[in-house]
Amino acid sequence: MNTALHLRATTTSVAATKAFAAALAAELRDGDLLVLVGDLGAGKTAFTQGLCAALGVDVAVTSPTFTLANRYEGRLVVNHLDVYRLDSPAEAEDLALSELLDDGVTVIEWGDRIEAALPVQRLRIEITFGPGDDDRLIGCDMVGDTWAGRFGDIRAAVGDWLAA
Ligand SMILES: Nc1ncnc2c1ncn2[C@@H]1O[C@H](COP(=O)(O)OP(=O)(O)O)[C@@H](O)[C@H]1O
Ligand SMILES: [Mg+2]
Repeated sequence: MNTALHLRATTTSVAATKAFAAALAAELRDGDLLVLVGDLGAGKTAFTQGLCAALGVDVAVTSPTFTLANRYEGRLVVNHLDVYRLDSPAEAEDLALSELLDDGVTVIEWGDRIEAALPVQRLRIEITFGPGDDDRLIGCDMVGDTWAGRFGDIRAAVGDWLAA
């Protein structure tokens, strides 16, 4: 089954996007894949910072644009990737994704660029710009049956930010 269930949230500050990610982090488990989609400056790295902080990562989380992947250790391991520079899913082979996915939570900025190389089961988070400078719309798609089964818990966790 390939079900996708959708939530829409809004934030009005970088702190709120981090808090949204922190609330979501409470629901995460080893093996989870988060695909972050959105233009430059949308807030993908800010989201990851909030997520990592909530998982007890106590070092600075920076954009891995030039390193491709960073590994952080908190309550869970977080593999933080940015595949902006990759041009095709074929290039993703070098990332050893299956090993990463076996160990901790994997967060991939620009993950839509290598979507074909990713497992179906994923939480897809798309951040878009809102009307004001600090406004963001955060769309969450729970793709695949295991994520679909977690829809209710995730919706409850991020309830404060859900769009009407
Ligand atoms: N609501 C918001 N959510 C996230 N970032 C925001 C928000 N409002 C303003 N910003 C700013 O937008 C920028 C987001 O940058 P970053 O997280 O690096 O984006 P990306 O990784 O998507 O390129 C930061 O400078 C941040 O302070
Ligand atoms: Mg980034």
